[in-house]
Amino acid sequence: MIYLHGDLGAGKTTLVRGILNALGYTGRVKSPTYTLLEPYQAGGLDLRHFDLYRLNDEYEWESAGFRDEFDGRNVLFIEWPEKVPNLLPAADIEIDFAITNLARDANIRANTKTGTTCLERW
Ligand SMILES: Nc1ncnc2c1ncn2[C@@H]1O[C@H](COP(=O)(O)OP(=O)(O)O)[C@@H](O)[C@H]1O
Ligand SMILES: [Mg+2]
Repeated sequence: MIYLHGDLGAGKTTLVRGILNALGYTGRVKSPTYTLLEPYQAGGLDLRHFDLYRLNDEYEWESAGFRDEFDGRNVLFIEWPEKVPNLLPAADIEIDFAITNLARDANIRANTKTGTTCLERW
């Protein structure tokens, strides 16, 4: 479970695209701005990319069936996790993005044993 924090345009989607490409995904990686969720299979993994910026409320979350995606197996990237603070499982990894002049800063931290193991191998 990876939370991606940062303003619009801070580079959250771009990082997910880069990770998917690095895993061998050759299709188009578009922002889930309107669909809220885009699913992927790459590198032998099931990945889910959420952008919750346009999520209206918890009811919409439940009715879309998003809870089923949190099966403990999928790799989950969540843009705007702040939208549903009480519904999401805790993050293994959190990344804070900040815009600098021509590039981006990313502060990456692990909160769990799983997250720490991932970062050690990154
Ligand atoms: N590391 C980076 N360096 C330079 N430009 C970047 C970087 N990451 C993203 N961008 C640019 O910023 C814009 C918005 O990025 P995006 O990943 O869609 O932001 P977010 O998902 O956080 O809203 C894009 O035009 C992208 O090319
Ligand atoms: Mg985005």
